[in-house]
Amino acid sequence: MSEPLSLAVPAAPKRSLSWRGVLRAARDNPLQLWTDAAYAQDIEQQSFLGKPRLLLNAPDAIQHVLIREAGNFRRTAPSIRLLRPFVGRGLLLSEGELWRRQRRVIAPTLAPRALPPLMAEAARAISAALPALDTAAAAATPVDLLAAMQGLALDIAGRSMFSVAMEVFGVEMRQMFTAASRNISRPDFFDLVLPIGIPSPRDFRRWWFQRRWMGLISRIIAAREATDGKTGDGADLFDLLRTACAGDGPEGARQLRDEVATMIIAGHETTALTLFWSALLLAAAPEVQARIAAEADGLDLGPDGAPAALERLSYTRAVVSEALRLYPPAAVIVREAIAETRCGAITFPRGALVFIAPWVLHRHRKLWTAPGHFDPGRFLPGAAPVPRFAYLPFGAGPRVCVGAQFALAEATLVLATLVRRFVITRGDEAPVMPVSVVTTQPDRAPPFHLAARPGAA
Ligand code: HEM
Repeated sequence: MSEPLSLAVPAAPKRSLSWRGVLRAARDNPLQLWTDAAYAQDIEQQSFLGKPRLLLNAPDAIQHVLIREAGNFRRTAPSIRLLRPFVGRGLLLSEGELWRRQRRVIAPTLAPRALPPLMAEAARAISAALPALDTAAAAATPVDLLAAMQGLALDIAGRSMFSVAMEVFGVEMRQMFTAASRNISRPDFFDLVLPIGIPSPRDFRRWWFQRRWMGLISRIIAAREATDGKTGDGADLFDLLRTACAGDGPEGARQLRDEVATMIIAGHETTALTLFWSALLLAAAPEVQARIAAEADGLDLGPDGAPAALERLSYTRAVVSEALRLYPPAAVIVREAIAETRCGAITFPRGALVFIAPWVLHRHRKLWTAPGHFDPGRFLPGAAPVPRFAYLPFGAGPRVCVGAQFALAEATLVLATLVRRFVITRGDEAPVMPVSVVTTQPDRAPPFHLAARPGAA
């Protein structure tokens, strides 16, 4: 193991923020919402315009909100405002009976036993993406690994869940996504204070965006329907969703569209970021790359061998887990208390805003040794167990991420394939700062260099 690598992160404020400070941080970078002291406390209590705000780091309190009393905590108006343009009433935002019904359809298709065919599709998408990277490596030209990982993860999501090749839609999707990140995905004052039933000024722009975005999703659905009967493949997630939504008339068609949108966006953006941050960490840790390459050496990472190879990639998987600790794509999980409830000495008044922030938990000074250091050894088999509820990249409880196993397997496979083939280095030295705009994104797309790894086939 190399010397631990210290990584630049946005400074935490020394004191609690004023309401103006909260507004600024919520808009510019919510990673700066919590004070430096919060990274060593069980709970940080503040208020925003009279509403209590609680940041929870204590395991019991987290369990109370996400598991024991999950039914008493709902998504907040700002979260709904920011996510709805992309996912409509799909699984991420649906509630009650609709949520239960759709979750019963979707979750089994992403469970561990369903992964082998999905990973075979992922391996196909990876080999389709490699020639472009080989060319860049041979010509020693800088590579935008953020864009490359977004394109790859999108293609994997499309092929594995919906049997659709996404190349034709990728560029338009990225352009829309980038434009949204610049404006509608950053909350302003009205977004934070107005109840969801009253539109905020920006909601009008969000509705407009949602129309165009869902138009694109409808074209993806049309492309998928056009292939029906031609590929001869077995049922995929699309077939199951279509069956589940059939019979509900126009409402069913809309629900199908929203579920497809949810699975495409939730199924690729977070995994692409995991791969980007992993590459950034690895570029500064050549010996970690060498260990991944040695682990992957001789394994069949193609469609036939990928599912079995994944069982042997425990070090690569530990690197993915550590990247998810340092740069959790979902930096914060937010809930609002529906009715007053208590957990030990903590009272959650009705309407209280509750933050469970993987960003803070994963860097908590009492929960982790050297929390700012990149050390995949923390996640190797035999390492000391991670403290309870200290590591939550995928959330917990009934609304835990349905795609967690899929994402871990996919990221492990991509990383093993990349690092076995290439030595990854940075093309510049300037810091890359994480910024939370719905997901934890880099403040810029830094150039990387890929060089053929000596001895790689
Ligand atoms: C590294 C990758 C990923 C990360 C870090 C991640 C993170 C999360 C987190 C934290 C939640 C819970 C949010 C909450 O409780 O408020 C969540 C929910 C969800 N995720 Fe993921 N996710 C990832 C990949 C995926 C993939 C690959 C898919 C689909 C294929 C997916 C689909 C979903 C869906 C549909 C939900 C909503 C579940 C529900 O509310 O019942 N995610 N994800």
